[in-house]
Amino acid sequence: MSKANLSVFASGIGSNLLAIHNASKDKYFPGKLQLVICNKICPAYELAKSLNYETKLISDLNIEKFEVIVHQELTKKKIDLICLAGFMRVLSPKFVSKWKNKILNIHPSILPLFPGLNTHKKILLNGIKIHGSTVHLVNEKLDSGKILGQFAFAVKSNDIDFLIDNIKKYENLLYPEVIKKYIWTFLFKEDKFLKYKRIQIDDVVFSY
Ligand code: GAR
Repeated sequence: MSKANLSVFASGIGSNLLAIHNASKDKYFPGKLQLVICNKICPAYELAKSLNYETKLISDLNIEKFEVIVHQELTKKKIDLICLAGFMRVLSPKFVSKWKNKILNIHPSILPLFPGLNTHKKILLNGIKIHGSTVHLVNEKLDSGKILGQFAFAVKSNDIDFLIDNIKKYENLLYPEVIKKYIWTFLFKEDKFLKYKRIQIDDVVFSY
């Protein structure tokens, strides 16, 4: 089975990186993780190295220099799809247009609500009762590319750590599924995977 070459970009804990790694162990998963890029030393960086991925730490550079090096590394590894997984650096419109339709991001809000930072805080401050995450294509504007998948749940506690953990628990389920579907449909043009899915796990509704 032919597989798309994936690169994960991360700056955080790495739970989504781990979820993609775990999903890719399935022989039917249509992607192979070939390269992890981190812009700082972080748990995700250590995790990627411990999982024996080729891992590049590219930090302390302005965005232009950063992107030149990143582009070279991606090209060297023949990367087909970039998955931003808690990557906290905004990519320039120039880079995004070079990799048009080849960058996915996971963002912790039900977009188009709450693009940008501190989404959990904003949910709690505004007393919002529904929260979730979105996987979307990256375009030139922050957190506003085409939405590929989302989940939502009722906010039942004001505990921000609980909210963050709960978001990640379900992101770790959503992201690999959306990646799988995107590779089959948009990269491999397999129409039979186009079908819209709506599933419920616990009291969380997923749609992708
Ligand atoms: C995730 O919740 C992801 O949605 C968020 O960072 C977290 C990374 O967790 N991404 C953003 O805020 C991007 N704007 P992880 O390091 O455990 O995968």
